[in-house]
Amino acid sequence: MDLYEHQARELFEEHGILVPRAEVTDSPKEARGIARRLGGRVVVKAQVKAGGRGKAGGVKLAADPAAAELTARQILGMDIKGHLVGKVMLAQPVDIESEFYVSYVLDRAAGRFLAIASTEGGMEIEEVAASRPEAVARTHIDPAEGVTSAKAAEIAEAAGLPPQTVDVLMRLWEVLVREDAVLVEVNPLVRTERGRILALDGKVTLDDNARFRQERWGAEGVEHGDALEAAAAAKGLNYVKLDGEVGIIGNGAGLVMSTLDVVAGCGARPANFLDIGGGASARIMADGLSLILSDPAVKSVFVNVFGGITACDAVADGIVQALDEVQLTKPLVVRLDGNNAARGRAILDERAHPLVQQATTMDGAARRAAQLATAA
Ligand SMILES: Nc1ncnc2c1ncn2[C@@H]1O[C@H](COP(=O)(O)OP(=O)(O)OP(=O)(O)O)[C@@H](O)[C@H]1O
Ligand SMILES: [Mg+2]
Repeated sequence: MDLYEHQARELFEEHGILVPRAEVTDSPKEARGIARRLGGRVVVKAQVKAGGRGKAGGVKLAADPAAAELTARQILGMDIKGHLVGKVMLAQPVDIESEFYVSYVLDRAAGRFLAIASTEGGMEIEEVAASRPEAVARTHIDPAEGVTSAKAAEIAEAAGLPPQTVDVLMRLWEVLVREDAVLVEVNPLVRTERGRILALDGKVTLDDNARFRQERWGAEGVEHGDALEAAAAAKGLNYVKLDGEVGIIGNGAGLVMSTLDVVAGCGARPANFLDIGGGASARIMADGLSLILSDPAVKSVFVNVFGGITACDAVADGIVQALDEVQLTKPLVVRLDGNNAARGRAILDERAHPLVQQATTMDGAARRAAQLATAA
């Protein structure tokens, strides 16, 4: 699970990393009061679990409390890459002399952690890595040894970070270990004009396997996408939320994966991965469909089933059952093939729902679903 920036900030502060004074709110009126408490001028920051908030207009400087209220009003409710802004953080502005990038990430292939650091902070590290690979230093960390002062010095030196960052690098490692994180990232880590080192933006991803001992973030950290995944897990559905607008349901992970590719090839983006598995019942189909329809990002749904163990008539029954349970508000494209396909198609023809259309090929169905999503 990813944490919000303000939660990451809180963890940094608890582990002795300097951060700007800040408060969170969902109300523009309160934002005005917070700005007053913080000294008037504030940076207003959208709290969403997506990168590139600044570019999307979700990070803005406000000159005084009245401007803070106005800016908070603008940013609250904004849609940033499909994430609705429900809260803003107001932070004290810092006089930045230089911006750095640092992160620790689990490197599964190497069986180690990887420190990534750069003096080119503030922008997206992927861009820096692409345009100036020599500006990004990578240092492996033995998980049993961790980031000792010698290791921290090695990381700082490899990247050309000033020596004052060594202490922060060690504390950041403490955050990773104590909080059961698989990623901690600070971008930017800044040096102020007075030489202090502060974390201005943070991202922390917790290890879901350790959720049982990190209950602190409970419901508070749950965003819409997580909520859908949690609802899916409760129903035993194999579902992953993605960023696009075409809902996908298929049987078998391989077929669903290729369905995602085919939809992407048609110029649309899949909104999710959902595998209803082999031998899927009408119940599972109905649960899956209602879940996907409850995602506001979904503009059209593509049901792609190749009947093997799963008979197409059972899938069609599931779709019909779902149509009785949830009000269909988005177009549904269904492609049934394989075991009992003719019977399945007949069931859907009989139901004759105006928003349901059938296609005989996977490519044709994907094209149709993509068109419907982009036209919506
Ligand atoms: N408290 C602050 N004081 C001064 N400048 C700030 C402050 N917070 C952020 N900034 C400036 O705004 C830039 C963008 O802020 P931030 O890194 O928080 O958002 P972002 O990188 O756009 O978002 P994301 O991390 O989602 O990509 C920073 O690089 C920094 O220059
Ligand atoms: Mg940032």
